[in-house]
Amino acid sequence: MAVLKLLEYPEEALRQVSRPVQSFDSSLQGLVDDLQETLESSGAIGLSAPQAGVFERVLVVNVPGDDYGPQVYINPEILGSAKLGIVEESCLSVPGIVGNVMRATQVHVRAQDASGQPFERALEGMHAVCLQHEMDHLEGVLFVDRLSWFRKLRLKWAANRAARATQVA
Ligand code: NI
Repeated sequence: MAVLKLLEYPEEALRQVSRPVQSFDSSLQGLVDDLQETLESSGAIGLSAPQAGVFERVLVVNVPGDDYGPQVYINPEILGSAKLGIVEESCLSVPGIVGNVMRATQVHVRAQDASGQPFERALEGMHAVCLQHEMDHLEGVLFVDRLSWFRKLRLKWAANRAARATQVA
C-alpha cells in the first residue's frame, strides 16, 4: 500500500478519458488499496484513479458516518438520477478552490467490485454527489467546469494574478 501523488489542475492529463477495467487481477487490487490509503490520508471523501495518473475507470468513496464505509466502484454507470440540488464541492486535484455545483442528490448506479462482481445500488446525499464528482474525473471533467461563468472568470483572474506573481518572484 502506498499514498499516491496526485495530479493537480491545470495538468492536461486530468482531461484524459479513462478506459474501462478489463482484468480484475492483483494489480487492480493493488491500485484499489493505494487509492483507499491515499483517500484516507487526504481527509477527502472520494478519489478517482486518473487523479493519480492511472487512466482506468476506478474510483473510491468513503463518506464519514454513512452506512457503507470505504467503497470501490469499477466501471460505474449511472442508471437513473433524481432530485437536483446545489452542493458545495472541492477537489484534491484543484487545491484551494471551493464552489457550488448542481448535482442529482439521488442516483442509481451499476458498477463492479474489485473481483469483477457486478452490483447495483441506490445512493443519496453526499455519497451520491461524491460518486458523480469522481465519475466526472473518469471523463476528464473537473468540478470547476460546472461552476457558473462568473465564478470561472474569477478563478481565471486569480490564476493569471498568481502566474504574474510567480514570474516576478
Ligand atoms: Ni475531484
